[in-house]
Amino acid sequence: LSVGGPRLTLRYAVERDAVALYEMARDPQVTRFFSWGPYRRPAQARAYIARQPRERREGVRLDFVVEHAEHGVIGVTGLSELSRRDRRATVGTWFGRAWWGSGANAESKALLAALAFEHLGLWRLGAYSHPEHSRSAAALRGIGFKREGLLRGYHRHGERQLDVVVWSLLCGDWEGSRLRSEPVRVSGGLPRGWVV
Ligand SMILES: CC(C)(COP(=O)(O)OP(=O)(O)OC[C@H]1O[C@@H](n2cnc3c(N)ncnc32)[C@H](O)[C@@H]1OP(=O)(O)O)[C@@H](O)C(=O)NCCC(=O)NCCS
Repeated sequence: LSVGGPRLTLRYAVERDAVALYEMARDPQVTRFFSWGPYRRPAQARAYIARQPRERREGVRLDFVVEHAEHGVIGVTGLSELSRRDRRATVGTWFGRAWWGSGANAESKALLAALAFEHLGLWRLGAYSHPEHSRSAAALRGIGFKREGLLRGYHRHGERQLDVVVWSLLCGDWEGSRLRSEPVRVSGGLPRGWVV
C-alpha cells in the first residue's frame, strides 16, 4: 500500500529503513514525550520494523514511514487503537528534528486522513498530546483537530502514570478542512482488518 501526495509518500517500513529511523529517533528531542526511546541501538529500529506485519494483521497498529521524494524517510505516522464497531482509530506521528516545521506534518496527516476516511471507512481520528507538549497541540489544532479534554492518568511512561490531552478530527471536519484539499494517490491493496 502506498499513499502519495505532492512531496511525501506513506508506505510500510522495510528492513533497510532501520538506519534512517534509528538516526532520527536516537535524538532525545524527538522521543521526549513518548513512552519509548530515544533509541540506543539500530536493533531497536529493526525490532520495531519487524513487528509491523503482525501488528498490522492483528489490527493493533497500522504504521507507515513518511518518505520524502528527495530526502528519503523523514518520520513515522500511523493508526492504533482501532475500534471497528465505532469506526475510529488514534493517530500518532513523529519526524526527525530537521523536519519539524517543514509542512511534512500537515501533508502526512492529509494522506493518513484520506486513507482513513475515504478508503478504510473510519469516522473519527483521535490523537493524544502530552499536556506540556504545546508544539504538538499547536500542530494538531493547526490541521483541524479539536481539543476534547484531559484524560487523567491515562498513559504509563516508565513508572509514571501521565495525564494526556485528547483531540479528534471527525470525517465531517475533514471534509471541510484544508487537509482535504491535498491531492492523494492510493495504490496497492488495503490492509485487511483495517477496512471497517
Ligand atoms: C509533533 C510533530 C509531529 C509536529 O510536527 P511539526 O512539523 O513540528 O508541526 P508544525 O510545524 O506543523 O506545527 C507546529 C506548530 O507549533 C508552533 N510551535 C512551534 N514551537 C512551539 C512551542 N515550543 N510551543 C508552542 N507552539 C510551538 C508552530 O509555530 C506551529 O504552529 P503554526 O502552524 O500555528 O505556526 C513534530 O514536532 C514531532 O515529530 N515531534 C516529536 C515527536 C512528537 O512529539 N510527536 C507528537 C506526539 S503527540
